[in-house]
Amino acid sequence: MPSISDLKVELKQLNAEYAKIKDMPAEKRADFGKELNIKKQKIMQQIADAENAAQDAVVTPLDITASRDINAEAPEFLTADFGSKHPLMTELDRVIGIYQSMGFDIMESVQLDDEFHMFDSLNFAKGHPARDGYDTFRTEEGFIPPAHTSTMQNRVLKTYKHKLDEGNAIAVAVPGRVYRNEDVDATHEHTFYQCEGVYVSETCTLGNMLGILREFFEKYYGQKLNIKTQPGYFPFTEPSLEFLIEKPAALGGKGKGGDWLEMLGCGMIHPNVLKMAGIDPAKYQGFAWGGGIDRLVMLRYGLGDVRNFEAAKLDFLKEFTC
Ligand code: DAH
Repeated sequence: MPSISDLKVELKQLNAEYAKIKDMPAEKRADFGKELNIKKQKIMQQIADAENAAQDAVVTPLDITASRDINAEAPEFLTADFGSKHPLMTELDRVIGIYQSMGFDIMESVQLDDEFHMFDSLNFAKGHPARDGYDTFRTEEGFIPPAHTSTMQNRVLKTYKHKLDEGNAIAVAVPGRVYRNEDVDATHEHTFYQCEGVYVSETCTLGNMLGILREFFEKYYGQKLNIKTQPGYFPFTEPSLEFLIEKPAALGGKGKGGDWLEMLGCGMIHPNVLKMAGIDPAKYQGFAWGGGIDRLVMLRYGLGDVRNFEAAKLDFLKEFTC
């Protein structure tokens, strides 16, 4: 019996045949179409039978303690022909593309970090309660899966410091996967994506940051937006702000105003954070921001449950295939 993936390839090839109909003499079209339909029915039936058989098959449990000879047999991989990119990855590419179009360099965040990058380099005082606010996971060895992309700030500043010496600005966006040990519900996941922005130069101001953020959100949502900020608190920025956009009617808002959504945290980079990366805060200043990608995407598509992104639910994922 041919495998399901072979049958699906066959089906795909057959579907392509339909395109030929329009170029055929009229008298041949009906017969050719009929023949294709019969073949298609047959393949679809074979796929359905094979899927049913696979479901009913008694699967011998794997002995996970058995040693395995990696040279013995290569595993059979499914073809990628029928797969598609995860919606978050498509949107992450879009986000990165917008920052690149604005001249930002991109640096991907790490997935396992340490106390220095998570807290010390970000001006969290030792024993400060703000350290608990991030609900971090920890490995037995004391490593921390990053709870936000801000853990990359020290690395970004050190890596791109030469730009300042060359008379340019540091402008870097940092997408990454982050983890928080918190209860999961429709608006909270333990694993999600964030994107951080870091900008440093001799003269930049909060006004420049708001211009960049407005540009980013208007490009991402493809429309003009009202924006505002409100005071926030982060040990690594002074002043610290929360950045909000007004939900326009096109994104399911009331359209009458007053429907404000907090999109990210931001502010002027604390002098201690610059110092810890070897940048002189008397000469340079910077701003930074960071916010969730999942929420951004949910708003764009009117999605109600963040858990769908990590749940591998095919029905949900198929909505985004193209
Ligand atoms: N890392 C913060 C969070 O996840 C968000 C944030 C706030 C990032 C201020 C920044 C910043 O870069 O400057 O809650």
